Amino acid sequence: AKNVGILAMEIYFPPTCVQQKLSFRIESKGKYTIGLGQDCMTFCTDVEDVISMSLTAVTSLLEKYKIDPKQIGRLEVGSETVIDKSKSIKTFLMQIFEKSGNTDIEGVDSSNACYGGTAALFNCVNWVESSSWDGRYGLVVCTDSAVYAEGPARPTGGAAAIAMLIGPDAPIAFESKFRGSHMSHVYDFYKPNLASEYPVVDGKLSQTCYLMALDTCYKYFCHKYEKLEGKQFSLSDADYTVFHSPYNKLVQKSFARLVFNDFTRNASSVDDTTKEKLAPFSTLTGDETYQSRDLEKVSQQVSKALYDTKVQPTTLIPKQVGNMYTASLYAAFASLIHNKSSELAGKRVILFSYGSGLTSTMFSLQLHEGRHPFSLSNITTVMNVAGKLKSRHEFSPEKFVETMKLMEHRYGAKDFVTSKDCSLLSPGTYYLTEVDSMYRRFCKEG
Ligand code: ACO
Repeated sequence: AKNVGILAMEIYFPPTCVQQKLSFRIESKGKYTIGLGQDCMTFCTDVEDVISMSLTAVTSLLEKYKIDPKQIGRLEVGSETVIDKSKSIKTFLMQIFEKSGNTDIEGVDSSNACYGGTAALFNCVNWVESSSWDGRYGLVVCTDSAVYAEGPARPTGGAAAIAMLIGPDAPIAFESKFRGSHMSHVYDFYKPNLASEYPVVDGKLSQTCYLMALDTCYKYFCHKYEKLEGKQFSLSDADYTVFHSPYNKLVQKSFARLVFNDFTRNASSVDDTTKEKLAPFSTLTGDETYQSRDLEKVSQQVSKALYDTKVQPTTLIPKQVGNMYTASLYAAFASLIHNKSSELAGKRVILFSYGSGLTSTMFSLQLHEGRHPFSLSNITTVMNVAGKLKSRHEFSPEKFVETMKLMEHRYGAKDFVTSKDCSLLSPGTYYLTEVDSMYRRFCKEG
């Protein structure tokens, strides 16, 4: 199989959101919008969860691209939202396929913080490229509800599900040879308390781990590219760079960090002004570079124009919806398709996936216009990002906090019915109706 990659995409996020500017703590105005770079945050109310969201995304993808469920041969889910310690989310999604008599579908869930979706995606791409491929499509689902306890991390929540159809001759093709990974044992963000949906998070450490992982992945990525292509790689070889986006400020810092990497690697693409401005920092040790506020500021300044062209178009959904954990990177990528659809053919996109704990990979995609229904323009139409963002309903911060309290109560609980209020959900959205005395969950299509 040639040009294996993403043939089709669909994104779903709950219509319920809270404006960051309303702020959860009135005294810190501007902290979330300017400080974190976030505009709005989406969340699940009691009628939605990672299962209902992924049922919605998968059903919609199959319908809108007219894919017969029998044509799916592998289904992989990435998620870090634990509904059950044994039963995979994938098995819930089998309801869709059993209906059409297809139970011959490989794959289960992958989990490691925000990286599970990338692991799932690689599994599907590798399967289509392998000798065990049976000619059918792979399907990847990234689904998460990111919620934090009250405190500084709370405004960095979000929720979404993304479905991606995988196969050959894709408009979004993998350059599988160019991949750089960095995996390591750290406690930056983890979920040891199985009775709570909230993570334990060392915010500052997680930021440094993210940037260190980015540097290391970029180093390996460049090294592999250079070995295979016989020439240096620099940011000028990537038309767009897409980052896992816990909040936009970290994405700004990450891109600046890549520019600093190009500077230290003496890349020919780095202009004289940038060289001059960054020169004072060339003697810092690796560790010092992560601590230097001046370097952070100056590298962001010198990379601003490049950020605007190579990164800004990828930031729409993450800024509007928040951190979607496994779906975050792919929602950023979906933003790029939404914003630049008609200009993307022939472009190379570099993606950086990060999951705390930690696992991370940088990889490369080559874009082609493709052929209907698997074309960039049709993906843009199907995803209807602007329409979905526009039809959301804003909650007050108080109402949001109230919802979080109810969800805390419901997490891991049994024997309850939800409000079954699907008045805010658009037609065709799945919603949770009940969890019975045996913890069995029931969803309905609205
Ligand atoms: N106006 C404008 N900017 C402000 C204001 C204000 N009123 N107040 C603060 N800021 C700025 C700060 O200067 C800082 O900017 P800087 O990063 O450029 O220095 C920024 O807002 C954040 O403020 P801090 O006080 O540094 O951090 P805070 O205590 O708010 O915590 C954090 C932020 C660590 C990101 C927290 O939200 C968190 O822990 N989130 C979850 C962890 C996370 O997402 N980690 C990323 C990788 S792991 C993952 O994906 C889950």
